[in-house]
Amino acid sequence: MVQLVNNSDEKLIDQLQVIFNEVYDQKDGLKKEFLFNPYTQVYIDIEDGQIVGLIHINAIYDRYEINNLFVLEDFRSKGIASKLMEKVIEEGQNKKIQNITLEVRIDNYRAISLYKKYGFVAKSVRKSYYNGIDGVLMEKEMM
Ligand SMILES: CC(C)(COP(=O)(O)OP(=O)(O)OC[C@H]1O[C@@H](n2cnc3c(N)ncnc32)[C@H](O)[C@@H]1OP(=O)(O)O)[C@@H](O)C(=O)NCCC(=O)NCCS
Repeated sequence: MVQLVNNSDEKLIDQLQVIFNEVYDQKDGLKKEFLFNPYTQVYIDIEDGQIVGLIHINAIYDRYEINNLFVLEDFRSKGIASKLMEKVIEEGQNKKIQNITLEVRIDNYRAISLYKKYGFVAKSVRKSYYNGIDGVLMEKEMM
């Protein structure tokens, strides 16, 4: 089940910081996002009572940017990232947004294949964006 994280649910945000410590390696990284970035929206997927995946976006007026998409290793290749992505796309359609953009390491074949499956197209390459590895900027047009 995919659900939106309430930005005032501190207990849940602390829990997410621990579960997704690989993503939010800075202390209180996620908490700070909620505190200081009014555009932050996080959806989580819960399977049998366990939080197993997260998608973190910046919802900036009529554009969404995907900041993070992460599924716990034991739960990968079971369609969880797809569910999270479908939720964000559905919300974006309801809000009539223009586009969704993201940046991904050029060697992250799994993620790139997922994004292509949902209609994202590579728009430009940022040289050495990730410690010497190129980043690909991808966009899904929504209009
Ligand atoms: C990328 C990631 C989010 C995919 O999550 P997931 O729940 O395993 O993905 P899904 O099961 O929903 O699969 C969706 C699509 O992703 C791609 N994919 C998933 N696992 C894959 C694999 N092992 N090899 C190739 N493609 C794969 C496929 O296109 C797949 O669609 P399909 O099942 O129709 O072939 C997950 O591997 C992850 O958390 N990786 C680490 C974090 C990361 O790289 N995030 C992206 C940063 S931009």
